[in-house]
Amino acid sequence: MVKIAPSILSADFGRLAQEVAEVERAGADMIHVDVMDGHFVPNLTIGPLVAAAVRRVTSLPLNTHLMVTNPDVLLDEFIAAGCDTIIVHQEVCHHLHRTLMHIRGAGRSAGVCLNPLTPVSTISETLDFVDEVLIMTVNPGFGGQEFIPEPLRKIEELAEIREMLGLSFEISVDGGVGPETAGLVAGAGADILVIGSAIFGKEDRAAAIQAIRDAAAKGPQ
Ligand code: DX5
Ligand code: ZN
Repeated sequence: MVKIAPSILSADFGRLAQEVAEVERAGADMIHVDVMDGHFVPNLTIGPLVAAAVRRVTSLPLNTHLMVTNPDVLLDEFIAAGCDTIIVHQEVCHHLHRTLMHIRGAGRSAGVCLNPLTPVSTISETLDFVDEVLIMTVNPGFGGQEFIPEPLRKIEELAEIREMLGLSFEISVDGGVGPETAGLVAGAGADILVIGSAIFGKEDRAAAIQAIRDAAAKGPQ
């Protein structure tokens, strides 16, 4: 069964604690925290203070997606905030091994993320050192964007490589995922579905999560 990671980017920040509690009750497997610096992506969101506040109100793992130009200077703050997984973008990491080892050295899970047109080959040497590979199916920066289908083949490629090499990283997908696309991404081999608007944009979060699980279980239609 796929894991569901609601992205709080689409939550009501004025009542963030209740929003997180609602998706936890509704069966979410983790909380996805989108950190944007207004530089790597054209949007500015939240920092370690908010991550720490979310940490205090949920027992779910915090899956933290750093869309920032210089993640290295922020790692320790997000580690101190209690983030369980910290995901950095391949496109900005000059010393990816050092970055991933720093995260793992702190006892947290390390993830690497690829923008829609960044090939899997750019992280082939990385796969021994990651717990999660996040495939973007939108250009990062905003919730509620249209799903880009081409990166689906990267999910398939990663699933094949994982099988061939006997590795155990999880494959996650982020952007434009909802009941219409969950079957496609799950069918391609994604283990974790990051979902913003298709959960927080709905009144009934439990029904929204169930609809996505059902679509994922059905596979591509
Ligand atoms: C996009 C963020 C996503 C975003 C997904 O830059 O990384 O996590 O919140 O939102 P939806 O599901 O609405 O595309
Ligand atoms: Zn994200």
